[in-house]
Amino acid sequence: MFGFRFGPPKFSLGVDIGSSALKYVMLKKGKTGPEVVAAGIESYPEGVFVDGIMQDPNAISQMIKNIKKEQNLKFEQVFTSIASQNTILRFLPLPEMEDEELKHAIEGEAEQYVPYPLETVNLNFARLAKVEQDGTTRLLCLLAVAQKEQVESIVGIFRSVGVKQLDALDIDSLAIINSLEKFMKRKSGPDDVVAEEGDEPMGTMSGVGSSPDIGDDEVVAIVCIGARSTIINVLKGHVLRFSRNVQISGNNITEVIRSVYKFTFSEAETTKIEKSVASVQGEVDQEFLDVVHTTIEEIAGEIRRSFDYFKAQHREPLIHRVILTGGTAKIKDIDKLLSSELSVEVVLGDPSVGILRALPNEDSFIENLQQYSVAIGLALRGVEAND
Ligand SMILES: Nc1ncnc2c1ncn2[C@@H]1O[C@H](COP(=O)(O)OP(=O)(O)OP(=O)(O)O)[C@@H](O)[C@H]1O
Ligand SMILES: [Mg+2]
Repeated sequence: MFGFRFGPPKFSLGVDIGSSALKYVMLKKGKTGPEVVAAGIESYPEGVFVDGIMQDPNAISQMIKNIKKEQNLKFEQVFTSIASQNTILRFLPLPEMEDEELKHAIEGEAEQYVPYPLETVNLNFARLAKVEQDGTTRLLCLLAVAQKEQVESIVGIFRSVGVKQLDALDIDSLAIINSLEKFMKRKSGPDDVVAEEGDEPMGTMSGVGSSPDIGDDEVVAIVCIGARSTIINVLKGHVLRFSRNVQISGNNITEVIRSVYKFTFSEAETTKIEKSVASVQGEVDQEFLDVVHTTIEEIAGEIRRSFDYFKAQHREPLIHRVILTGGTAKIKDIDKLLSSELSVEVVLGDPSVGILRALPNEDSFIENLQQYSVAIGLALRGVEAND
């Protein structure tokens, strides 16, 4: 096959290989902003992920090939991520220096933070911000470490579907922040996105937290509750200061349902989702909710421990607000429950602020917005990079 593309890329695809489902979002650069033109959530065949570990990359390649064909996906720019549970993130306050020097300084320090031989890992770093520390100005850098084997396995999946080079291999915890930047920064008031005819800006949908209008010094936690892990990011003044991953999440809720009702895991998973939809529609099964809530309280306990650690380490008295995302954010009233457990305001994040929509399966996209956070954050990299 022979093909040309004239001019800059128009499409950007974000693929989130989560442990319970693959999520994809394709954005098109529109005249008035990015427009979502394809999106979906696909479950894996049995055995592809076992205990959160990818066992069958070939099956994932096949899935991506099928989706590409069915949805007419364009591989002009492709972004994916590695799970934060497979990476190490470290915050390093360093003296201000040039990029090349910084690279050497970070590589020099890396050994003490990496529990594997350095030749088996990929290192990456980013400048976060200038910070005041004990009376001196330091450059806060983020060091990201991933094992080469993990990176290779993801790169291999995309190579086998025809993507010679990924535009970026991100980390899911960082993609989440990217997806919520506009939500956090948007001031209250009319939407700043002007839709093309027939399109609707997506920032004002019901069921999604109203824009939080975050102040410059505010300490905000972005909490993403997925299937296997819960990501806890804390930002101060819009700069990431703390990131942690705890291994309790939606699967634990399913596991408790399985054991109480003597179901198989997949029966418990279906029941969890059906009942959460039913309770949104008003048919409440109180006994069932109590079972679910016990596990949410445990998740809250882990989040609280991370918050306490952050507060002690950074001498911050408070977390002002929590923005909730991830598939498990769909459980009815989880925001209220977490809010009362953590004694802090919890709002559902809307990763679609500023994005127009042109989708055949619009209702399902809106219903599952939080589950699309990582994929949206990834795809946005492509439309932002060329602005
Ligand atoms: N309507 C719903 N009610 C309750 N839970 C839901 C609902 N929809 C999805 N979930 C749960 O959300 C989780 C999947 O979320 P998500 O796709 O964010 O996780 P993942 O990316 O696959 O996992 P991880 O990032 O931990 O590897 C599953 O545990 C699923 O049961
Ligand atoms: Mg995930």
